[in-house]
Amino acid sequence: MAGIEVTALHKRYPDGTVAVEQVDLSIGHGELFVMLGPSGCGKTTTLRAIAGLERQTTGDIRIGDTLVNDLPPAERDIAMVFQFYALYPHLKTRDNLAFPLRAEGLPKSEVLKRVDEAARLMRLGPLMDRRPRQLSGGEQQRVALARALVRRPRAFLMDEPLTNLDAELRADMRTEIKHLQGELGATMVYVTHDQVEAMSLGHRIAILNKGRVEQIGTPLEVYDRPASLFCAAFIGSPPMNLIEVEVADGALRAQGGLALTPPPGLSRDCHLVAGVRPEALEVTAPGAERSVPARVVSAEWLGDEIIYVVDHGGQHDVRVRMPPTVRFAADAQVGLRHTGGTPVVYDVSTEELVA
Ligand SMILES: Nc1ncnc2c1ncn2[C@@H]1O[C@H](COP(=O)(O)OP(=O)(O)OP(=O)(O)O)[C@@H](O)[C@H]1O
Ligand SMILES: [Mg+2]
Repeated sequence: MAGIEVTALHKRYPDGTVAVEQVDLSIGHGELFVMLGPSGCGKTTTLRAIAGLERQTTGDIRIGDTLVNDLPPAERDIAMVFQFYALYPHLKTRDNLAFPLRAEGLPKSEVLKRVDEAARLMRLGPLMDRRPRQLSGGEQQRVALARALVRRPRAFLMDEPLTNLDAELRADMRTEIKHLQGELGATMVYVTHDQVEAMSLGHRIAILNKGRVEQIGTPLEVYDRPASLFCAAFIGSPPMNLIEVEVADGALRAQGGLALTPPPGLSRDCHLVAGVRPEALEVTAPGAERSVPARVVSAEWLGDEIIYVVDHGGQHDVRVRMPPTVRFAADAQVGLRHTGGTPVVYDVSTEELVA
């Protein structure tokens, strides 16, 4: 397995669309690296450039020690798994797996050995003699993954491979892919626009926006300290509250009076927004200690939690995550209290994290 280096990648399509402005990635050997971002931010283009399916306009791509800019896909020694898995409909699972190896001209014994190994890893035993139409969507996707495995590539590139599966299957396959990646010690670049998938899978996540990398970090880092307002709004469900604040009397104060502890090293001469996760706030009875007045706009009951939307100081969409036992009706006058630590703070003009 090999690491992947992407340097100053820029891709302009013939019709003039700039899909990738400037992307730098340094993906470690054996790392499960996730590229996350909204539709159209350049994830697939970046991945296809790494695979050699799309030629970048400028920039360099290295796989291991090899500069692969001028190598065709077949010589880059990577395997790609797409959202739409293309299995040969007339072939049994076993032959679908063996096909790419036979095409490479590997000896029969080696083909058998690798097919068996991939079947074991992806638990395909009972499915080996079925044709694709006799398999469920999830099973087909497992076969597609196994087919990428048998080639023992230097790296795996996956473009939203689970998008077509239902929620339960997706969660299962996620576990499966993570397990497999660990067992093989495989370098894997995994593209998704689903932040839950990104958080649960990635060793590190790159958040892309409009062809640029906004942040690279571990799931914890990007959750705790989103590097920009874009990342703050993108990561988390529901996302972080972004509350306009002023520095007054050593505190960050929102218009309605909610006071937050300022992070150390905060410069005071700019227009600030504090980022506060819904779980760092609390809805209380009106007048409770350290609470400020608020009004319930709506309550979304999710079984194991309730997401309250409250109005505080003219901001109508402050989201608060509460246990399901705490019930307030819509329109109720309540208290709003900050419970969790120091918020992150952004400069409105640069949209970047300042402290
Ligand atoms: N062949 C092409 N010619 C022109 N523009 C293209 C081409 N392929 C992609 N684009 C444009 O490049 C931008 C990035 O596309 P890309 O497919 O990389 O996005 P993505 O992040 O994978 O999005 P999604 O999550 O929807 O798959 C988009 O604006 C898209 O319309
Ligand atoms: Mg895409």
